[in-house]
Amino acid sequence: MVGKLAFLVLAFFALTTVCQSTIFYPVSESHRSAALELFASSDGPFVNLESTYEALRTFEVLGIEKSADIRFSVCTSVLDTLKSETVNLKDLFHALRANGLLKCEINYEVYGGIQSKFEDSLNSASALLDFYYAIGGLVLLKDHSPELKVNIGDADKIVRSIKALSQSDGRWQLTSNKPESSFDASGIALQAIAGVVSLSTSEINHSLIAAVKTDILKLFDGIEKYDDGAYSFEEKLVDASGHQGPLAASASVVRGITAFAAVSPETLN
Ligand SMILES: *[C@@H]1O[C@H](CO)[C@@H](O)[C@H](O)[C@H]1NC(C)=O
Repeated sequence: MVGKLAFLVLAFFALTTVCQSTIFYPVSESHRSAALELFASSDGPFVNLESTYEALRTFEVLGIEKSADIRFSVCTSVLDTLKSETVNLKDLFHALRANGLLKCEINYEVYGGIQSKFEDSLNSASALLDFYYAIGGLVLLKDHSPELKVNIGDADKIVRSIKALSQSDGRWQLTSNKPESSFDASGIALQAIAGVVSLSTSEINHSLIAAVKTDILKLFDGIEKYDDGAYSFEEKLVDASGHQGPLAASASVVRGITAFAAVSPETLN
């Protein structure tokens, strides 16, 4: 077990290094102008808030200043989304993420309405992404306004419901009625569980947390190692639509483990 844990920590650092080296790779003017061109095109990232967020994040990593035009148009779209009566959880979540980067001016009351939408949806959630968006949204709200009193109800119950979608190899299913599981979904699940731990006012049942830790160890049994020392999580399932490549799957797992380690540090030692 100790050997396995040491391996986990090693692999984890190897993965983090891979990610960091991508981020700190020297960015040239040509990268910047390519990104700007992409942003300006009509089928560019503004098609939805998810890709808008990804583009803004890319801009940040590349060190490109966001113009007043971009700020105005994204903030307008963020505000429209946050105020909409019919918006879904996913768009709300991505609007809050974009807002986190741009710090748009948003009235405090708007946040209250969103908070109760997320909290209510947690009561009826059963699919992994429903948990992920609702919990992620509440974490973003709390980051933005730490004084908010977020009430997620029975935290153990939520973690149990998310945990129920995990498979024996540490991969997760998106919903109980679809048999496919993936590394990408594992990263999503671990981020959601980490969010529950950070939002919960009481401690989460220790045996539940221990079970999640076991899932993480199982995940590492499925890791691919390359001659150059890189590690990657490669999905066994290759379906044409919506298939995430190894980079996206690995990034998702790393985000999940990082988030989980941050809220329960003693459990990954
Ligand atoms: C924690 O969960 C385990 C297994 O699900 C259960 O047996 C135990 O009673 C729970 N402990 C508490 C304090 O609720």
